[in-house]
Amino acid sequence: MKLIFEKSRPGRRAGSLPRYDLPKAEVPEELARRTAPRLPEISEPELVRHFTALADRNFGVDTGFYPLGSCTMKHNPRVNERVVNLPGFRDLHPYQEEEASQGALELMWRLQEILAEVCGLQAVSLQPAAGSQGELTGLMLMRAYFADRGEAEQRRVVITADTAHGTNPASVAMAGFELEKVETDERGNLDLDDLRAKVDGRTAGLMLTNPSTLGLFDEHIEEVSAIFHDAGALLYYDGANLNAVCGISRPGDMGFDIVHINLHKTFSQPHGGGGPGGGPIAVRDILEPFLPVPAVVCEGDEFRLDYDRPKSIGKVRGFCGPFGVFVRSYAYIRAYGPALREMSEVAVLNANYLLARLKDVYDLPFDRLCMHEFVLSARNLKREHGITALDVAKRLMDHGFHPPTIYFPLVVPEALMIEPTETEAKETLDEFADAMRAIADEAASDPQALKDAPHRRPVRRLDEVKAAKRAIVKYGFEEHPDLAPAPSGGAAVQAQKGA
Ligand SMILES: Cc1ncc(COP(=O)(O)O)c(C=O)c1O
Repeated sequence: MKLIFEKSRPGRRAGSLPRYDLPKAEVPEELARRTAPRLPEISEPELVRHFTALADRNFGVDTGFYPLGSCTMKHNPRVNERVVNLPGFRDLHPYQEEEASQGALELMWRLQEILAEVCGLQAVSLQPAAGSQGELTGLMLMRAYFADRGEAEQRRVVITADTAHGTNPASVAMAGFELEKVETDERGNLDLDDLRAKVDGRTAGLMLTNPSTLGLFDEHIEEVSAIFHDAGALLYYDGANLNAVCGISRPGDMGFDIVHINLHKTFSQPHGGGGPGGGPIAVRDILEPFLPVPAVVCEGDEFRLDYDRPKSIGKVRGFCGPFGVFVRSYAYIRAYGPALREMSEVAVLNANYLLARLKDVYDLPFDRLCMHEFVLSARNLKREHGITALDVAKRLMDHGFHPPTIYFPLVVPEALMIEPTETEAKETLDEFADAMRAIADEAASDPQALKDAPHRRPVRRLDEVKAAKRAIVKYGFEEHPDLAPAPSGGAAVQAQKGA
């Protein structure tokens, strides 16, 4: 496909600006540009076709099934967009005085109350803008809590599972703690013996996803929580997998003290491509004094922002957080109402249905009922036919599906992590299962077809290492980058003409 610059022809325009009669602005000679900016010149129909063709090459939840494990790519109800575009929300300025933003403050306060209830905890801050920022915020709260008790020097270690998402250890390091990993046992739970050996007076806390990234609910969660609390440590719940348990079980009841919630997963804020997210944190009352400021509070019929929190860790994001995300998530939760539990029940049912349809053709490392997602392994295909999880993922694209998450969690070789979500119909699940089964058959009958996949996408298999190491982020008008020496130090190279 040609770039828009290659379609450009001098003098073509997609629109015209009205004539203006203001005096020409004086620009100092040294700041004035010598040549006109190099902009594509193109007619409106060509412009529309160009961007429509680009959009058509994209894949999203609106174009097809997107079972990307751990990411909860669910349908985003359109009513959320209507609500967020109500002028009172859309046109609100973050510096607007509190009396004039009572509706927005009330929405935030109500969302806080709902999230506290869903998590079984007492206080919420909506500020963090992503799950990973919620993690960092939660760990900063842990530090502030122990500092307040005079234990900051002593409590240096945070324990994570060997199945943890990469952001967990990264957050531990960023928050200035030392990392210790605990192993997974043969049923996919935390290994309690390993855990007991590692928890002591130096432990600040645990970071855990439950259900884990294996899609399994830890069968000893109460014991795990007692081990930490008995040692005076805290428990952090990575809520990325909250979609499995809403209205069924609550992290606070399991013993967790701090939880982050990914609004862009569980509560349907559109995401993907690093789009806007929300990672509110819910905490037990002992941690409330340390929450970020401002806190949204309700006094009688009035809502206001409270900055008077002397023990607060301070702000972690501008203003009160990503407000548009709050409106969409609030609309989503209110649309479900008390039936929120059904959302999780159907997510778990869909995952177990798919698991049952696939477990005889792919390896299943932990043969248990799953929660909202499950992890298969393509190691049987690798052993027998040399076919990897990557080959399966690429071939799925030919069948019109987004691939599942692969090679994660790290404890499962050739992992395929599948999360169907609650919004998919049985027919879609069956089509996906049929495709996965056809691919397993093909691994035996025509493995080369899998090795060469995808066959029917705009691009074939890419050199991902080169794409990462030699990122081409701008178009080379004058130079041909492949003739230039390879850049050092990660400098950007220019694109080949027509690339
Ligand atoms: C288990 C788990 N924890 C944490 C995160 C980080 O969340 P975010 O992408 O919102 O930063 C993710 C994201 O996929 C996740 O799957």
